[in-house]
Amino acid sequence: MQIILITGGAGFIGSHLTRLFVQKYPHYKIVNLDALTYAGNLNNLRDIENEPNYTFIKGDITDAALVNRLFAEHRFTGVLHCAAESHVDRSITDPLAFVRTNVIGTSTLLLAAKESWKQDYNNKIFYHISTDEVYGSLGETGFFYENTAYDPRSPYSASKASSDHFVRAFYHTYQLPVKISNCSNNYGPYHFPEKLIPLSINNIMNNKPLPIYGKGENIRDWLFVEDHARAIDTIYHNGKIGETYNIGGHNEWTNLALIKELCRQMDTKLNRAEGTSAGLITFVKDRAGHDLRYAIDATKLKEELGWVPSLQFEEGLSKTIDWYLANTNWLNDVVNGHYKDYYEEQYHKR
Ligand code: NAD
Ligand code: DAU
Repeated sequence: MQIILITGGAGFIGSHLTRLFVQKYPHYKIVNLDALTYAGNLNNLRDIENEPNYTFIKGDITDAALVNRLFAEHRFTGVLHCAAESHVDRSITDPLAFVRTNVIGTSTLLLAAKESWKQDYNNKIFYHISTDEVYGSLGETGFFYENTAYDPRSPYSASKASSDHFVRAFYHTYQLPVKISNCSNNYGPYHFPEKLIPLSINNIMNNKPLPIYGKGENIRDWLFVEDHARAIDTIYHNGKIGETYNIGGHNEWTNLALIKELCRQMDTKLNRAEGTSAGLITFVKDRAGHDLRYAIDATKLKEELGWVPSLQFEEGLSKTIDWYLANTNWLNDVVNGHYKDYYEEQYHKR
């Protein structure tokens, strides 16, 4: 019997991962611990919320008493740690929030797992979900490998790098059975509309300007979120303890080229004249310390565990746009903050 704690399961990637595990493994028990920050949204999980193998708990990963109690009560055999502050721009204005959740929260979970599992580490896994941004920024050529030296350059990536180091330290010092994956930029349904792709979809739908930082020459390596969830499933079950795996799509786009492709597809889907949406592109002040290029080499994951992405980018982008066009209630609730009213009603009365 596997009893898995997923942290941050109400967020973007966490909700896809939670859905995958709840549906694919009906004999596992899945407990989703999420603080429901601005980025957490229970509407992301409506379709599985009543499944018998799924439990939601509202709580903060920095709350050691709560986390220890949950380990004692549920006797977790595994942890899939997704909870984080995840937006680079927010980390520039409020770095301490990132230290708190990403560094202290991760360390709190590690300590609880170590304490709870210390009699027997067999068949236990602490899986830490991390980012390619820990490796820093590439020039025009080259890739990030699993042994690329860490060189974080934003408060967000510094906090994620720090959390990765704590996970590695718990493996080396206490032999805690850990796994880490570092993934490139994700996109897909339920992506919070502060990030480039969903923000641009929402703005195109509403004829608002599309803010492109600097000259739009920065490059990101995009992966469909369900492919990321599949990779985590593969690594969780078949990856080696103590190892790091890079996950990426070999799919590099400059921000400007990506937004032009998005505009092209949306003009067609919205029956607008060609070039209408691209007319909304607006160049704005660059992000402070803006990393130029990320590109993942995911050969290890392919050769050792057989994982490859399932979707070409144009197809994944088309599916993503279709999802947002079909789910305007989800999008409008997020943009208007109505989903917060629901939390107030649901949790305040307790
Ligand atoms: P997200 O911001 O959409 O979701 C984060 C979730 O964590 C939310 O549900 C939020 O409520 C929850 N949370 C935040 N602070 C918490 C706390 N203190 N206690 C409990 N829950 C808390 O993030 P995401 O984009 O889904 O990213 C998930 C993970 O994947 C993060 O660790 C991120 O670093 C990593 N990652 C993201 C990407 C990407 O492109 N989005 C790529 C690679 C790795
Ligand atoms: O690489 C993985 C990382 O990808 C994850 O670890 C992060 O959690 C995730 O947020 C993402 O970080 P980025 O900073 O790359 O994503 P974002 O969508 O914020 O920005 C993508 C690119 O687009 C980046 O070069 C900045 C630029 N951008 C972003 C926004 C929001 C714009 O030009 N305009 C914008 O309005």
